[in-house]
Amino acid sequence: MLQLKVVALILIWWSSGVEHATVAGQQRRLINTGCSPFNASNARSFFANVNETFSDMRGEIRNQSKHFGTSQKSRGGVLTYTMFQCRNYLSKNDCLSCFNTATTQIRNCSRANGARVIYNDCFLRYESERFYQQTNELGSGVTCGNKTSNATVDFRTVGQKVLTDLQTATPKTKGFYAATKSKVAGGSAFYAIAQCVETATEINCLNCMQVAYKNLQSCLPNTDGTAYDAGCFMRYSETPFFADNQTIDIGPYLKQGGSSKKWAIIGGVVGGVVLLLVLFACQWSRKTKKVHRGDILGATELKGPVNYKYSDLKAATKNFSAENKLGEGGFGAVYKGTLKNGKIVAIKKLVLGKSSKMEDDFEGEVKLISNVHHRNLVRLLGCCSKGEERILVYEYMANSSLDRFLFGNKGSLNWKQRYDIILGTARGLAYLHEEFHVSIIHRDIKTGNILLDDDLQPKIADFGLARLLPGDRTHLSTKFAGTLGYTAPEYAMHGQLSEKADTYSYGIVVLEIISGQKSTDVKNEENSHEYLLQRAWKLYERGMQLELVDEGIDPNDYSAEEMKKIIEIALLCTQASAATRPTMSEVVVLLKSKSLMEYLRPTMPVFVETNMVNREGNSVGSSNATVSISVLSAR
Ligand SMILES: *[C@@H]1O[C@H](CO)[C@@H](O)[C@H](O)[C@H]1NC(C)=O
Ligand SMILES: *[C@@H]1O[C@H](CO)[C@@H](O)[C@H](O)[C@H]1NC(C)=O
Repeated sequence: MLQLKVVALILIWWSSGVEHATVAGQQRRLINTGCSPFNASNARSFFANVNETFSDMRGEIRNQSKHFGTSQKSRGGVLTYTMFQCRNYLSKNDCLSCFNTATTQIRNCSRANGARVIYNDCFLRYESERFYQQTNELGSGVTCGNKTSNATVDFRTVGQKVLTDLQTATPKTKGFYAATKSKVAGGSAFYAIAQCVETATEINCLNCMQVAYKNLQSCLPNTDGTAYDAGCFMRYSETPFFADNQTIDIGPYLKQGGSSKKWAIIGGVVGGVVLLLVLFACQWSRKTKKVHRGDILGATELKGPVNYKYSDLKAATKNFSAENKLGEGGFGAVYKGTLKNGKIVAIKKLVLGKSSKMEDDFEGEVKLISNVHHRNLVRLLGCCSKGEERILVYEYMANSSLDRFLFGNKGSLNWKQRYDIILGTARGLAYLHEEFHVSIIHRDIKTGNILLDDDLQPKIADFGLARLLPGDRTHLSTKFAGTLGYTAPEYAMHGQLSEKADTYSYGIVVLEIISGQKSTDVKNEENSHEYLLQRAWKLYERGMQLELVDEGIDPNDYSAEEMKKIIEIALLCTQASAATRPTMSEVVVLLKSKSLMEYLRPTMPVFVETNMVNREGNSVGSSNATVSISVLSAR
């Protein structure tokens, strides 16, 4: 039933041997090395590029004492991306020496189109694709020393504390590097460093640190250990491997818990100001002897959902007539209804099947969903239960759904309208994920679930409903409730659900809005069949992403920079690794900011191809089609 044809091949090679290399009489520890299983298609150009990036980097180390660098070259359309990093405690000459060792060692990969070597002191990697932002999507590694510390108990205790602190502090330091020395009972010491690649984001660095920390912890109480990943490195030892005067005081980075604490400070300041104002106001009111009461609680009380009578809904929809039917969604048919008081509503008859769990869940869910108020989310007005029937009543959206504009005959949207939909949808999702008191994952974001109001502002429909789906109605896994073509690979294949699955689907929607192309439609370009996401990635890699833009959008309506940025955001959202995708509130910030995109380079996406009998993009939850999935990496 579930057939995996191609899994992103780039993931395969990140696990190979550990050796020792003896350099200039001293043991420089080679921690990990790996070669891509594919040869460069145009080896001459590719390795000429590689050589050039190497000499660029050598120059940067020698002339600018750099400890980190990236370089990319293009030659006759052949792209090469290279990155190196030395641990910051190395002197310029030691860094150069480690780099030279690495460039020699990496030649063992011969004609491979990707290679990396990781030493204790430095690392070097090149690829035919951009990877600079990768931190931990390829699988991590750890090597532990085989001696146990004499101060076993204390060494472990101190070690755990130090590694935890490094994990927290490093992503906040400038340059993503920290080195500490801590005393251990019995006169020994615990030396440790942590480092991320400088092209990572703070969040990616933290994610990487967390994995490295977990791995490295398993080495304690052995005297030394090293954890590595694509974008970070952590090492500790009882033996000094950097000088005492090279440690970094990480205390200041530990005192505050990041942004939440920042908010606490702002809150504190604001609170203080408010307090002053209140004191001032009291003073003033005492003087004037006029104290106002009431009018203080401005918040409107939350109303519970309305319980509609079945007969009223039946009348409102002319007995659920075909004429009143607006469409068929993943959870059942939707009808336009006119209530007795003249109000027009959308009435959704759910197809949920029998389940006692559902009986219990229904009212609770309805209550929860009806408390969600946001201008980019469709309001649930109430519900109705009769026998096995479960009906939801929503506010009515005159302009139906986004897919009818993009792929149907509702007329074309201009760029301003499309941008508003992109931003509004992000805001609605950010609210569901992060601002509502319960985090609601939509699980089925697609253009058909984005409704448009009279002003063509977007409102997301059907949120919270997936939680009502009983397990036996889904085919792929008990937790799967998405639409193929929009569904994040980790969710479609492994049922791993997080807010980032919505982020992925959102990215696909954005690409559809920009291109006017369906995610599941194949475009034939240069004799290769490509889905939208693959096409977008390929164009992006070549810097030709503007070719993606729908011809129906007037080029005078947008700036090239803005459009490129939004395409890049969409690609950030569809990255293969859920951890590297931005949260929806970050997406909102990115959309609204002018710059901020520097160093936020998307990594290669993965697309779940569908071979459904029914290719209309219906929810799997409601279709009986057999599904086979293949995952395509967008090469
Ligand atoms: C790249 O440099 C290596 C080592 O210096 C050399 O053997 C090789 O021929 C060079 N490759 C190209 C394509 O220039
Ligand atoms: C650090 O200590 C070493 C000796 O261990 C010394 O040579 C070096 O100058 C010191 N560096 C700084 C910046 O104090």
